[in-house]
Amino acid sequence: MFTHPKKESRGLPTCPSPAPTQDVGSSCGSGLDEECSRKADQKPLELYGVGELPAVFSSDSPYLSSRGRIVKWFWDSAEEGYRTYHMDEYDEVKNPTGIINLGTSENKLCFDLLSRRLSQSDMLRVEPSLLQYPDWRGHPFLREEVAKFLSFYCKTPVPLKPEKVVVLNGCASLFSALATVLCEAGEAFLIPAPYYGAITQHVYLYGCVRLVYVYLDSAVTGLDTYPFQLTVEKLEMALQGANSEGVTVKGLILINPQNPLGGIYSVGELQEFLGFAKRHGLHVVVDEVYMLSVFEESAKFRSVLSLDRLPDPQRTHVMWATSKDFGMSGLRFGTLYTDNQDVVTAVASLCRYHGLSGLVQYQMAQLLRDRDWINQVYLPENHARLKAAHTYVSEELRALGVPFLSHGAGFFIWADLRKYLREGTFEEEMLLWRRFLNNKVLLSSGKAFKCKEPGWFRLVFSDQSHRLRLGMQRFQQVLGGKPQVAECPSSCPKQEPSGQHG
Ligand SMILES: Cc1ncc(COP(=O)(O)O)c(C=O)c1O
Repeated sequence: MFTHPKKESRGLPTCPSPAPTQDVGSSCGSGLDEECSRKADQKPLELYGVGELPAVFSSDSPYLSSRGRIVKWFWDSAEEGYRTYHMDEYDEVKNPTGIINLGTSENKLCFDLLSRRLSQSDMLRVEPSLLQYPDWRGHPFLREEVAKFLSFYCKTPVPLKPEKVVVLNGCASLFSALATVLCEAGEAFLIPAPYYGAITQHVYLYGCVRLVYVYLDSAVTGLDTYPFQLTVEKLEMALQGANSEGVTVKGLILINPQNPLGGIYSVGELQEFLGFAKRHGLHVVVDEVYMLSVFEESAKFRSVLSLDRLPDPQRTHVMWATSKDFGMSGLRFGTLYTDNQDVVTAVASLCRYHGLSGLVQYQMAQLLRDRDWINQVYLPENHARLKAAHTYVSEELRALGVPFLSHGAGFFIWADLRKYLREGTFEEEMLLWRRFLNNKVLLSSGKAFKCKEPGWFRLVFSDQSHRLRLGMQRFQQVLGGKPQVAECPSSCPKQEPSGQHG
């Protein structure tokens, strides 16, 4: 089970164990965790944080290298919730008192549609080329389909080119590959926080690349502003702060639609952020893994690939996968699109270790080319189911008086449970998280996303209604229907902000 990290040479303080789930990954206590390790006199944590380079914690093993111990430590410490869940998974018949997982960002609503489509006879082909070593960028027939698919769904001004596509086994591998080929060990990416926390490991475990957090908060500071808003000013401040500490920042990671906030950047915002990156010569890695999971019509998503002109095409790299939009996180298919041929080649070289089976490549090409099924069957039904599940959970939260943010995209609601903490600390947040787990409902706490305000939790709603209902009942039992502290602080959104921001 969870082991507290063993402190090594630097005598840094430990911090409470994490509340992560599989898609969140490492959290508080990681060797990269600035909040645990930063010295008191190193100031502006308010504005940014820099993960430590050499992981200062590692698990003991006489068999492993120091790197191996760090890698193992991530596993030992980071996924308590997820592992507990797998030992006691809820099953309506076999384990009705098991844990309901509202923590892992997976779409479990469309298995019926997917299994029917993937079981059709056109999905299986066995021919020599599919059983032999492939072009490591991916089979040409698949890269062609991916280029057509992304051109259509990202609404690109001109058709995308197959030679700028690389396919591999998911976005996690792509983060790892991009970090390795774009940065030197010890360099960093800027990332707005809260963010999908597993990126910490993705960029670190092989690439030894760190993250510089651009902290966002829930305060609304004026007209036309919204909670957890990213601005160029905040990016500039974090970049300056990192530079002043001698950390070389090589790029910016943008997740759009966002995880865990569910927000969507407007075209204006995207252009500003890309302009900022260009001014500083930074790469931009844009993760659009939820791009087809926008289920509210009022929420308008624009892919970065739809922009007429990218400020710095050679430094703009876009990723997508079927893990979320097609509810196939276990299939492991992801793709990179970039104009930069050096990046294509370098990532392709790493695909020798992250490649897809030829049979799966064939299956994916068949799926992505079936525009009729995607447009007429899958997407409308998926969106309707996401919307119904979202409506159910948001109504439950409203009835409980729990404020939350949600923007009609992604699988989750960002719930403000600060009023249920006796004091605003991550220790208290952890206690609440554990009370949920003890009551057999797994959530993700804000700390796992490097949220700087204790008390935020992410609730995943993309699950079948019987599990969702039971999960929400258990959630409600823990909160007891009543806050432990009377009033919500003034920065807390009184209700869900309408539609998309920006
Ligand atoms: C924003 C984001 N990017 C990437 C991933 C990982 O994607 P994959 O399963 O394709 O590796 C996740 C998983 O939760 C995610 O939320």
